[in-house]
Amino acid sequence: MGTVILGTGSCLPEKEISNHDIEQMVDTSDEWILSRTGISTRRISGKGEETYILATVAAEKAMEMAQLTADDIDLIIVASMSAHMIMPSCACFVQKELGASKAFAYDINAACSGFLFALDNGDKYLRVEQNKKVLVIGAETLSSRTNWKDRNTCILFGDGAGAVVLGYHAHSRGVVASNLFSDGNLWNLLYMHNAPSCNPELEQPDYPGAHILMEGREVFKYAVKAMEGSIRELLIQENIDIDSIDLMVPHQANIRILKKLVSRLGIDQEKVFINVQKYGNTSAASIPIALDEANREGRLTNGDLLLVCSFGGGFTWGASLIRW
Ligand code: ACO
Repeated sequence: MGTVILGTGSCLPEKEISNHDIEQMVDTSDEWILSRTGISTRRISGKGEETYILATVAAEKAMEMAQLTADDIDLIIVASMSAHMIMPSCACFVQKELGASKAFAYDINAACSGFLFALDNGDKYLRVEQNKKVLVIGAETLSSRTNWKDRNTCILFGDGAGAVVLGYHAHSRGVVASNLFSDGNLWNLLYMHNAPSCNPELEQPDYPGAHILMEGREVFKYAVKAMEGSIRELLIQENIDIDSIDLMVPHQANIRILKKLVSRLGIDQEKVFINVQKYGNTSAASIPIALDEANREGRLTNGDLLLVCSFGGGFTWGASLIRW
C-alpha cells in the first residue's frame, strides 16, 4: 500500500440529451431505453468541449482538491478512445493546457477499462518514484464516435471526464491491489475502426466507419461474468470479505449489468454508487466521474475500503481495491 488518491475532479459538457431527444433520431422510446439500460439523460459535447478540454477541467478540480499546482505534476496519463487527434496524445494537450511543464504525458486505450488500467500504471510508477505526483484521467467524447442512426448503440453513450491526483504516503492507506485482464479473441463483439487507411493495401474489408459497433447481448453476458470473476479473485487473494467493502464504484455501463453484478456478488445495494441514469456510459471516464461525485457527496472517509471494477472493448476488465 502507499499510492493514495489526493484529489478527485470531473467535468461534464453542458448540453444534456434526453431519451425523448433520441426518440427524434431513431426508432426507440424513453420507456424502452429506461427499462433496458436505466439511462434517462446523457451529456454531449458542444463547440470547445473536446476530450482534452473536459480532461483539463477535471484535472484542475482534482489538483485544487489535492492543493497542488501544475508545477507539482510529474506524470499525466489519459485513458481515452475518443481524443480529437491520434497524435499528439490527449495527455500532451492536457499537459499544455495545464502548463504542467515538468510532466511527461501519454495516453492509454483499454476502452471502458482504461481508467482502471491507467490507475494501475500510476500506482506502479509511484511505488518506485515515491516523491512524485501523477494525474490519472479518463476522458471521452464518444458522441463523435457514435453512429447516431444505430439504435443499438446511440442510446448508451455520453461524454465527460474524471480525474484523480495520485501521490505516495508510506502508511496503511492506498491502492491495496488490482486484478486486470484482456482477451483480444473477443474483439469483434465490441469495436470501433480507425479513420480509413491511406494505404489501399491496408483498407479494411467492409469498412463500416469509425464508430462503435456492438453485439449487445454477448457483451452483457461477458461483462457480468468477467467483473464478478475478477472481483471474487481479488477478494480471495487479499482475504477480504465482500461485507468489508464500504463503497463500490463500478463502471457505469448500464443498470441491468450493474444490478446483475450486485446480486451475484451479494453486496448491499446501498454500498454501490450509481449515476448511469444521468450520464449514460462515458467509457473510460465513468469510474472517475462517479468516484468524484461519491467523494464530493461525502460517501468516502479515511480508512474506507473502496472497490472499483470495469469491463470494456478488447475485451478488457478488472477490479481494484483501495483503502481510502
Ligand atoms: N429501441 C427500441 N428497440 C430496440 C432498440 C432501441 N434502442 N435497440 C434494439 N431494439 C430492439 C431490437 O431490434 C430487438 O427487436 P426484435 O426482438 O424485434 O429483433 C429487441 O429490441 C431486443 O433487442 P436486444 O438487442 O436483444 O435487446 P436487449 O434486451 O439485449 O437490450 C442492450 C439491448 C441494452 C444493448 C443490452 O444488450 C445491453 O445492455 N448490453 C450491454 C451493452 C453495453 O452495456 N455496452 C456498453 C459497452 S461495454 C461496457 O461498457 C460494459
